[in-house]
Amino acid sequence: MDKLRIVGGHRLSGRVEVSGAKNASLPAMAASLLTDQTLKLDNVPAVWDTSTMRRLLGELGAQLPRAPRDDPHRLEITVPSVRSFEAPYELVKTMRASVLVLGPLLARHGRARVSLPGGCAIGARPIDLHLSALEKLGATVRIEHGFVDVQSDGLRGTEIYFDNVTVTGTENVLMAACLAKGETVLENCAHEPEVVDLAHLLGRMGAHIQGAGTGTIRVSGVERLEGATHTVIPDRIEAGTFLVAGAIAGDEIDIIRCDPSHLSALLEKLSEIGVETRVADKSVRVKGGVRLRATNVRTLPYPGFPTDMQAQLMTLLTQAEGTSLVAETIFENRFMHVAELNRMGAHVRLDGRTAVVTGPTPLSGARVMATDLRASACLVLAGLAADGQTLIDRVYHLDRGYERLEVKLASLGAEIERLASG
Ligand code: EPZ
Repeated sequence: MDKLRIVGGHRLSGRVEVSGAKNASLPAMAASLLTDQTLKLDNVPAVWDTSTMRRLLGELGAQLPRAPRDDPHRLEITVPSVRSFEAPYELVKTMRASVLVLGPLLARHGRARVSLPGGCAIGARPIDLHLSALEKLGATVRIEHGFVDVQSDGLRGTEIYFDNVTVTGTENVLMAACLAKGETVLENCAHEPEVVDLAHLLGRMGAHIQGAGTGTIRVSGVERLEGATHTVIPDRIEAGTFLVAGAIAGDEIDIIRCDPSHLSALLEKLSEIGVETRVADKSVRVKGGVRLRATNVRTLPYPGFPTDMQAQLMTLLTQAEGTSLVAETIFENRFMHVAELNRMGAHVRLDGRTAVVTGPTPLSGARVMATDLRASACLVLAGLAADGQTLIDRVYHLDRGYERLEVKLASLGAEIERLASG
């Protein structure tokens, strides 16, 4: 397993380009199952999760020619016919987002069989809301031998209310509803930009969708969907991670090819902490080296503060003067990074689903272990601020969602390298 070695204390400056959004690419790739024509996706990040989705789609019957050498971020996917309707355990266990093939397979093929994702480091992560919504669209759902098996002889539009806001649940059901007969109204949907991006893609494929980005999405089902070409939105969590890197260790960093309108909650929080940022059309400038003030933060569904930025912001708060409260309201176990941060010298105490961060505390480099995708990012940020060397184990977690993070940080002046395992 690869490791990352970081020697902290270097000030970062320069420009860094944000990759396409992993969490917009995954549903967009799954949407290829809805048509027998070719989907052309640009700006897809070359990360583990998108390659896992490529493998999964290949198992189901997709043709995925290798990306053109001059553009590794271009993906062309064609599913002339569904060869298998089963998403195997060995793929689903590595990526919960495999569940995104449920809705499109059911809509196109009338059947889908997906290994239950099971829990992961940050929580149980059930899919009950996905399944109850698909049942309302007319599917029969059976759970047996660790698989969920959904079938239908034709989905029919209806009214669906999500008891809890679910991002991939909204995306799964939105894709299924596009080929259902009649109107579907989805209530209490996720507002995330990734949902809006998926709706844009589906619209280009011929779907009739209104209201994406609000709590109520209306879909008029169509007979069939066509191929399309679509550029995936920038990754707002990667952009946010670089914003925090600049706040912690920056002189001045320009984060380019991002969409600042997706970063409002984070920019507001950084301003409360005393971090100066300047927003332009497709970029944000962040200055470090300022006195940081403690603040409180609650993770919430979009447009609230994103849970995927909670760990990264916590690292910044360890350097802020005073006591900060970090409430994680989305996942029940998303504080796996706290123990490792404390080993580096942070003072974070857990009180249920709230972390109490007392700062500033000098961080010292240590050997630490990544436990999940965003916890890994938090430890990289801590390594940038720490005195001495930090060695991060199990960086495959990081590689799931960040494209060449160490290369991008090194280009800004960080002393960071990947130690490939034998
Ligand atoms: C998406 O996960 C993202 N993943 C996650 O990003 C992100 O943290 C999460 O949304 C919240 O914003 C992708 O988009 C691929 P949810 P998702 O369904 O859809 C509960 C990352 O780091 N719930 O919105 O799986 C669930 O347990 C990843 O990039 C049910 O109870 O999250 C959680 O507590 C991590 N039943 C809450 O709802 C369900 O059927 C929100 O989950 C579905 C969800």
